[in-house]
Amino acid sequence: MSRVLFVTGTNTEVGKTAVTAAVAALAVRAGLRTAVLKPGQTGVAPGEPGDAEEVVRLLGPAGARLTTRELVRYPEPLSPERAGLRSGLPFLTVPQFVGAVEELTDSHDLVLVEGAGGLLVRYDADGLTLADLAQSVAGAELLLVAHPGLGTLSITALSAEALRARKLACAGVVIGSWPSEPDLATRCNLADLPVAARAPLLGALPLGAPGAADFAALAATSLAPELGGRWDAAAFTEAHAVPFA
Ligand SMILES: Nc1ncnc2c1ncn2[C@@H]1O[C@H](COP(=O)(O)OP(=O)(O)O)[C@@H](O)[C@H]1O
Ligand SMILES: [Mg+2]
Repeated sequence: MSRVLFVTGTNTEVGKTAVTAAVAALAVRAGLRTAVLKPGQTGVAPGEPGDAEEVVRLLGPAGARLTTRELVRYPEPLSPERAGLRSGLPFLTVPQFVGAVEELTDSHDLVLVEGAGGLLVRYDADGLTLADLAQSVAGAELLLVAHPGLGTLSITALSAEALRARKLACAGVVIGSWPSEPDLATRCNLADLPVAARAPLLGALPLGAPGAADFAALAATSLAPELGGRWDAAAFTEAHAVPFA
């Protein structure tokens, strides 16, 4: 049975596309038939590369083995609802989304769905969100991508609470960009993020990951076994633990 993994985040620009690419890189390397679905792409003109194309680019030659789909696209960098309203182009619909997921799951082992912005960003004027899209897929799992620094704990907890309120399973939290010299708050957050999310920490992409020469190798050392890598959350957290002053 194929797995459908939604990649959401605490915000825009937290590293959802980079994490999607990291999971995809390991899946492709493991021989899984893998697809990346971007239901709503904003801020990109017709013909320009969107997030799905960015995932292909990050994978290098292995990107040729990925299937990508984008369902709606609007040029202005706004929420899909606002960008859709302003462009006059049609909104995403649930049947359109479900049809695309069914078509992809028929022929793939893993379908990664990258949301736009955070979890409750609206895709249409009736308030359709990524959470609704996830609820339309039986057995959907969600990854929450977060930044690691000061300020992340409350938005992580809020996102996780919104998932729980909708009976959606949070598979785990992934840090989109882990700095080379983490400060006190960042180091403490390794222990506190999984508590805030009430879900395991499943990875930390190092700063600069999108530029890595061997992106799949870097993904393998940055993502936990649940996501196909060999990153050890307990050892990483322990290595960065802060002694009491
Ligand atoms: N680990 C990282 N190190 C450095 N830059 C990163 C990392 N992850 C993402 N970025 C950069 O940060 C920006 C936002 O990342 P992206 O994955 O596109 O976020 P999102 O999909 O959540 O909007 C992009 O320019 C991307 O290249
Ligand atoms: Mg993105």
